[in-house]
Amino acid sequence: MTHLEVEVCGLRLKNPTMLASGVFDETGKSMLAVAKAGAGAIVTKSIGMEPRPGHPNPSVVELEHGLLNAMGLPNPGIKLYASEIKEAKKGGVPVIGSVFGGTEEEIAELARLVVEAGADAVELNLSCPHAKGYGAEIGSSPEAVESICKLAKRRTKGPVFAKLTPNTPSIADLARAAERGGADGIVAINTLKGMAIDTDAKMPILGNKIGGLSGPAVKPVGVRCVFEIYEAVRIPVVGVGGIVTGRDAIEYIMAGASAVQIGTAVWSEGPIVFSKVCKEISKFMKDNQYQTVKEIVGVAHPGKR
Ligand code: DHB
Repeated sequence: MTHLEVEVCGLRLKNPTMLASGVFDETGKSMLAVAKAGAGAIVTKSIGMEPRPGHPNPSVVELEHGLLNAMGLPNPGIKLYASEIKEAKKGGVPVIGSVFGGTEEEIAELARLVVEAGADAVELNLSCPHAKGYGAEIGSSPEAVESICKLAKRRTKGPVFAKLTPNTPSIADLARAAERGGADGIVAINTLKGMAIDTDAKMPILGNKIGGLSGPAVKPVGVRCVFEIYEAVRIPVVGVGGIVTGRDAIEYIMAGASAVQIGTAVWSEGPIVFSKVCKEISKFMKDNQYQTVKEIVGVAHPGKR
């Protein structure tokens, strides 16, 4: 094992970084480019059963310390997207199929279909902050999270990750529910619910009014959530939210993440961010005498140092 290699829920990653769902993952070609740029794994765009046009524009607004978006889960549907997954697999790194649905049955069936299309694992998007009837509307109920995970696990062979919402009183309760349902790992966090207003137009900027906040602004929330989840469950946690530097990734790993995802920084800095973050993690490890990433996981917890 080279020093950056990690194993997460049976997936072997050459380094602990993954492309987060929703950025640069519309096509197989764009996912291949990110794999070539050095990501340890790729998470696809969130895919549904049928094609969806998404919300009206403007659907993204750049803020001072992050992005606010309400794309509305636009996607071509699993039938058309299956070939993009096949193409992405040529990158030689694990591909994780992100899925969303309006019912447990639909989500479980999609979990089966993305693995059938070639995905090495599934990420259940139980946490889109604003699409009516999808995501966080079902993903903030521990009972729903448990039974969705249970059904998805029954339908598919691949490892199942539950991506959870921070827009809840206790993300630890959601994580415990996912673990009870048999999820192999947790991904935290999805975006925070937010709004920006155009003071000249005197109206919300986004077509959908409310959107999901990502980027550096949400990092302390993400680190806190990973810290709480790590204490609540035994299954691995993948940390995501505002990672731009190697130090940001190390913070998540010290909170308890076995790997991390990068999304908004790929949008702002380009896919080169993966090799930059990996170089910085390597330097930190050398400077602090760590031989493996695993040794760093959870060290910020009392009794773990
Ligand atoms: C969308 C989905 C998400 O899971 C999220 O965090 C933000 C936006 C969307 O497609 O609108």
